[in-house]
Amino acid sequence: MYLTKEEEAILNGELGYPYALAMKVLTTVGASLGAEKLIPVEHAHVSGISYFNIGDAGLEFIESLATSSARFHVFTTANPYAVIIDSMYGSLPEDVRSKQLKIINYLKGMGARAFTCAPYYVRRPSYGEHLAWAESNAVLYANSLVGAWSNREGGPLALFEGLLGKTYAAGVHLREGRKPKCLVRVKTGESASFLHISLLGLKVGELCPDSIPFVEGLENVSEELARIFLASFGSTSNAPMVVFNRLTPDSQELLESSDIKDRFSIDSSDLRDVLLDLRDSSESGGILYFIGCPHLSLDELTYLLRRLQVGGRRNSGKVELWLGVGDTVSLDKETVDYLSEVGVRIIRGMCPVTTKLSLLGVKYVITDSGKALHYMPKLAGVKVVIKDREEILKEFLGGGVR
Ligand code: F3S
Repeated sequence: MYLTKEEEAILNGELGYPYALAMKVLTTVGASLGAEKLIPVEHAHVSGISYFNIGDAGLEFIESLATSSARFHVFTTANPYAVIIDSMYGSLPEDVRSKQLKIINYLKGMGARAFTCAPYYVRRPSYGEHLAWAESNAVLYANSLVGAWSNREGGPLALFEGLLGKTYAAGVHLREGRKPKCLVRVKTGESASFLHISLLGLKVGELCPDSIPFVEGLENVSEELARIFLASFGSTSNAPMVVFNRLTPDSQELLESSDIKDRFSIDSSDLRDVLLDLRDSSESGGILYFIGCPHLSLDELTYLLRRLQVGGRRNSGKVELWLGVGDTVSLDKETVDYLSEVGVRIIRGMCPVTTKLSLLGVKYVITDSGKALHYMPKLAGVKVVIKDREEILKEFLGGGVR
């Protein structure tokens, strides 16, 4: 791989150990993927910072960098961390909370600007901009809805890329790597809801597990719904991008240059099968409602708060609704107190999916997120039921599952 004089010097330790290590890892990964050079990025996003994901080894790794004066050289954000606030379900053990806080503080010390899985709401990338992002829903959003360019990085690699402000020129950073190789025609014949679109995303991901799909039939969905589709898709597929007919910037050029190998068609009966499988698992006790995977936009949060304030339900003391948002979102104390009284918690900068909720006594989670449905049983140790967002609100405002 060609390196500039400056990059060679960093590799040889001119800026110290963390940057030399970062350059060594980045050039090794880049060379193995056929990259011929490094390119600058405007924004890095680090994933995998929940203590439950990375454990003591991850904490020590981040600590070793932070205490060696490693600092991010470009705008860098990080994924949410484990849920460390108290709730009616209880709290995490003190040693887990303190280790999670150390991870957060080391990353802040290195210059992390925000903790959220929706970094595009903190700093919206521009069309054609190169990024080094490591959260699948964010990468898919950037490539598919903005026309920015990011591979789907691993958490530690994105951290190194944030230190250097560079990535390797391979994958979707090259036009060649953005070609759709799979075509999916969606024929649902129903108006799109959060539930419907979540399930659709999971299904399309299963059909195209390793290749970028060109998706026809979702031309009229809102950006919010396309975002939810992408988050689900990223749970069952490794592809970093979806080309939506007419929604994705340059979709027609990408179709013309495509190399379609597989073609699929999905209709609403396929999705009904999935629903029947999923809806049959309700039980009572230890129930948590959760909306906000990925983290909610301000518009979504505003809408939900209006519904919940108008609803005026008193807290039964048996169930809570958690709303996931980035840590840059702030609400006035009066609203937070009111919400807490009615059993609603704003989970700022945190991710219930990567928190062992079973340690809190949560047995099952009711959510509208296909991504949460996919990951929570394994990562959070709970059962998951997926329902539409409106259905969740109605059920919660009515006092929850009885
Ligand atoms: Fe965000 Fe956690 Fe879901 S990081 S996308 S709330 S799994």
